[in-house]
Amino acid sequence: MLEARHVGSAELRIGDRVCHLPILEGNGGERVLDIRRLRADCGMTTLDYGYANTASCKSDITYLNGEEGVLLYRGYPIEELAEKSRFVEVAYLLVHGSLPTRKEHDRFSDLLNRHSLLHEDMTHFFYRYPEHAHPMAILSAMVVSLSTFYPELSGNDVDEELDITTTRLLSKMRTIAAFSYKKTAGEPFVYPRHDLSYCANFLNMMFSSPVSPYEIKPELVKALNVLLILHADHEQNCSTSAVRLVGSARVNLYAAVSSGICALWGPLHGGANQMVIEMLEGIARDGGDVKKCIERAKDRRDPFRLYGFGHRVYKTYDPRARIIKNTCHEVLQVLNKKDPLLDIARELEARALEDDFFIERRLYPNVDFYSGIIYRAMGFPTEMFTVFFALGRLPGWIAHWKESLEDPEFRIQRPRQVYTGPNLRHYVPLDKRS
Ligand code: CMC
Repeated sequence: MLEARHVGSAELRIGDRVCHLPILEGNGGERVLDIRRLRADCGMTTLDYGYANTASCKSDITYLNGEEGVLLYRGYPIEELAEKSRFVEVAYLLVHGSLPTRKEHDRFSDLLNRHSLLHEDMTHFFYRYPEHAHPMAILSAMVVSLSTFYPELSGNDVDEELDITTTRLLSKMRTIAAFSYKKTAGEPFVYPRHDLSYCANFLNMMFSSPVSPYEIKPELVKALNVLLILHADHEQNCSTSAVRLVGSARVNLYAAVSSGICALWGPLHGGANQMVIEMLEGIARDGGDVKKCIERAKDRRDPFRLYGFGHRVYKTYDPRARIIKNTCHEVLQVLNKKDPLLDIARELEARALEDDFFIERRLYPNVDFYSGIIYRAMGFPTEMFTVFFALGRLPGWIAHWKESLEDPEFRIQRPRQVYTGPNLRHYVPLDKRS
């Protein structure tokens, strides 16, 4: 890990006490106040809802500049990776820190193939979920269940163990995702094939059936690669922070990733891709009038939000949304499909971007705004959208879990609070309470 530079110090005066807080600078030029000695030296902590001003760690994995819309994985621009790379290669890059050589790539792909099958006993689990179980609940439960079938290896070769656990998770999570869909569709499971690439295999497991084999279109394989690459990491977002936090208790990787899946499910995070489509469908049902939806999103008394818009870090167009918007157009062309929801989405975007409410708050489309339209065109049901996000984010979660455990400054994550409850009081027996 490269060290953040020490570039000065700030003075904090509290009464007679003076605290010197070091100022550190990261590689992207961002400056942070190092408050690690604050409580010990000044007897105070900080209050920061949503951790909007708090760096929880140092990280080498992803650089994000929200003012300029820059996103780099291990230094490589997201635009280059989306255009030239494939998801498996990006997964390797995130977890191991560099692009694989041919030999490393082939070994990684071989491991992905070797670990793609689920233990046959696990396939029975799918039948015990109620018919309308959300696939994100199934995914999270199945991933933590992997720890009961595949306990972590206890050999001495850490790199080898990490390779196996990483590829096992990447490969099996794809199989779990496809099986959870097949279960809800009431169709037989389609097993992974060694002759297919990661994304082609996934499409085949989702859409092939014993009565009609699925024609794998290379353009759709490419589009799925692009989507998974765009979702592969996004530094300290909610689900990645969940993985780091749960992982900091030193649970196994499966348990930490399972908690990340649960966090991602939320409508303010990865669940927004499902919410966007439901919102667009609602507008279509309502006659296609986008103005009403914008007015609702602006109404401070209404909890409704314009899903797929706004971001904690991006204060400009999300670079991932730009790529997805173009991919969306290409996929619809390849499939020779027209989706009225795309027209509604475009109009909604245009209207929002010229509205003062969104301009003042610097709210732009995010990664979730257009992705659902691609998934829909490919034939994926709405409830599966966040599952794809999870599949894409998995290498990022693994990379952060690994980095946090290898960090020499590692500590269990345990924030403080400002207590605002009652002062000391004494227990009153039940029949004496008024
Ligand atoms: N629609 C309407 N108003 C919004 C929206 C939106 N989508 N996003 C932010 N605002 C308003 C918000 O009400 C607040 O207004 P005011 O200053 O008057 O109180 C202001 O903009 C700042 O918003 P915030 O809630 O303080 O921002 P945040 O950084 O805490 O939240 C967010 C970020 C992504 C949760 C939020 O923008 C949001 O709820 N967006 C809709 C859900 C969504 O698309 N989520 C996917 C995020 S990107 C993929 C991912 O990481 O999962």
